[in-house]
Amino acid sequence: MNAAHSADPAELDRSQLHRTAAALVAPGKGVLAADESVATITQRLEALGVESTAETRRRYRELLLGAPRIDSHVSGVILYDETLRQAATDGTPFPELLASRGILAGIKVDTGAKPLAGAPGETVTEGLDGLRERIAEYRDLGASFAKWRAVLSIGPGRPSRPCVVANAHALARYAALCQEGGLVPIVEPEVLMDGDHDLDRCGRVTTTVLRAVFDQLHGAGVDLRAIVLKPSMVLPGSGAEPAEVAAVADATLRCLRDTVPASVPGIAFLSGGQGSRLATEHLHAIASLGPHPWAVTFSYGRALQDDALRTWRGEPANVGTARSVLLRRVRCSGAAALGSYSPAMEAA
Ligand code: G3H
Repeated sequence: MNAAHSADPAELDRSQLHRTAAALVAPGKGVLAADESVATITQRLEALGVESTAETRRRYRELLLGAPRIDSHVSGVILYDETLRQAATDGTPFPELLASRGILAGIKVDTGAKPLAGAPGETVTEGLDGLRERIAEYRDLGASFAKWRAVLSIGPGRPSRPCVVANAHALARYAALCQEGGLVPIVEPEVLMDGDHDLDRCGRVTTTVLRAVFDQLHGAGVDLRAIVLKPSMVLPGSGAEPAEVAAVADATLRCLRDTVPASVPGIAFLSGGQGSRLATEHLHAIASLGPHPWAVTFSYGRALQDDALRTWRGEPANVGTARSVLLRRVRCSGAAALGSYSPAMEAA
């Protein structure tokens, strides 16, 4: 039979999802997470004395999305609902601006971590209600991938089994809905750095969490070749003795090799509050221990943006310098994803 006649539309959609997932983790490229909710970006702007209005947020996001040459190192940008609907000063809608630069637009679709009943101090991420309809709208607005962040904390008796299972279940339902609606899901189970736990404890918790996540993804029939995993690195708690970069890389890879199937095309780490340079060094060390069954790269928020945001401070005159600062961070991160970062690049 003629291949053109036998092509099943569902199969074509599936292979498009595979291509999008592979593009997000293309060699030397990673994701810029610029999907802070209005409340979160407001805190960050106000900490610098910048008033947070829809217009100041739009101008800040234009600084990021329009930064020259970032497309050599950035495959996709995750946006918040407000930003996906905004436009550059010349009227070009942000998703269109990204598309014209060969960068994929993504959208945060969860509605945040809310207290989990029966598990004091723990949360479950919400946002499944009406998600099918929102996905369809986001696709029409130009998104090709999505993000959902589950949050787990380490402490006495935490994370509890109900918290791990509830969050893994929600991630799997989200991922299945995304694939049905034509978006690649970024699956983000974040184990927070808060606490004084050691590296081993973080490794054990992260392993338990990732096992639960992949169990649920299998159970929900999610195509693993059409997701990107966005985990936290295995790190000691922020209140504990820091670990050597090599020890972090080793512990992170041990955990991922034990839990992440080779069919997953890529792992794009979050930065989780590590400083920008340390996040780069950790990624470089992880990549250098390859080859790995999956691509490894970044999907950083603060580690890419903090220096640029501080440079900008709301001043139009600082946009050019802030963009250069962002370009340096994405260039260093892209090199780290290839295992070819060197501290000398920081001075460039
Ligand atoms: O959900 C969190 C962001 O996508 C990643 O942010 O790198 O600052 O942890 P982060």
